[in-house]
Amino acid sequence: MDLDVVMRTTGAARAFTDAPVDDATIYRVLDRARFAPSGGNRQPWRVVIVKDAGPRERIRDLCVLGWREYASFVEAGEVPFAPGADGLPNRSNIDLAAARATPRPAAFVDDLEQVPALLVIGAHLPSLAVLDWGLERQSIIGGASVYPFVQNLLLSARNEGLGGVMTSFLARQEAAARAVAEAQTAARSSAFAARQATVVKLERMLVRIQARRVEVASQYHQVS
Ligand SMILES: Cc1cc2nc3c(=O)[nH]c(=O)nc-3n(C[C@H](O)[C@H](O)[C@H](O)COP(=O)(O)O)c2cc1C
Repeated sequence: MDLDVVMRTTGAARAFTDAPVDDATIYRVLDRARFAPSGGNRQPWRVVIVKDAGPRERIRDLCVLGWREYASFVEAGEVPFAPGADGLPNRSNIDLAAARATPRPAAFVDDLEQVPALLVIGAHLPSLAVLDWGLERQSIIGGASVYPFVQNLLLSARNEGLGGVMTSFLARQEAAARAVAEAQTAARSSAFAARQATVVKLERMLVRIQARRVEVASQYHQVS
């Protein structure tokens, strides 16, 4: 697909068919996305591909909680989870427990388990060069080593005729989400991995972790 078309038409897709997405397509999507930049070229992103029904339902349930919290801010006229004007974590009066307990029907999250392939993106925190560390405001730089990769995923998916959206609702239930992702990784018998490339860095050549198919894990991760 023409780059101009891809970039101009990769929007946030929140409605999906249940048509399966084969592993070869996911592989191509990941294989292109890995050329994203990152601080120190450390490529700290980690991806777990969730295709099994049970884990997809669990992720849906966790996202619903994040959505309910988010919606409660919007309803109160607040930017969800925004820092205050001083850059420090907001001291909102939103009752998050009450928000999580309040149903807010929304097809995007309520039907999330129908999405044929969910990609849970994590970050290997010790690899993040967080140059705004210690500043007395909300840190923003660490995530910037992951989000270009995520946007590349969306662009690459678009190039395959697929749609998607990055959602941070899941982060609100991080521990539970990590448990789902780890269990999924342990349970799957085939998918993708990446290994550190032993390449000589040539002038003007992008050096990235190379991808290869393996039969042992469902995690797109580094192995040495
Ligand atoms: C860091 C980040 C977090 C986002 N989190 C969510 C989210 O939790 N839920 C969601 O539906 N969309 C989320 N989005 C998608 C944005 O809402 C979307 O990119 C924006 O509205 C532009 O949409 P458009 O490209 O279709 O115009 C997120 C986007 C970014 C960059």
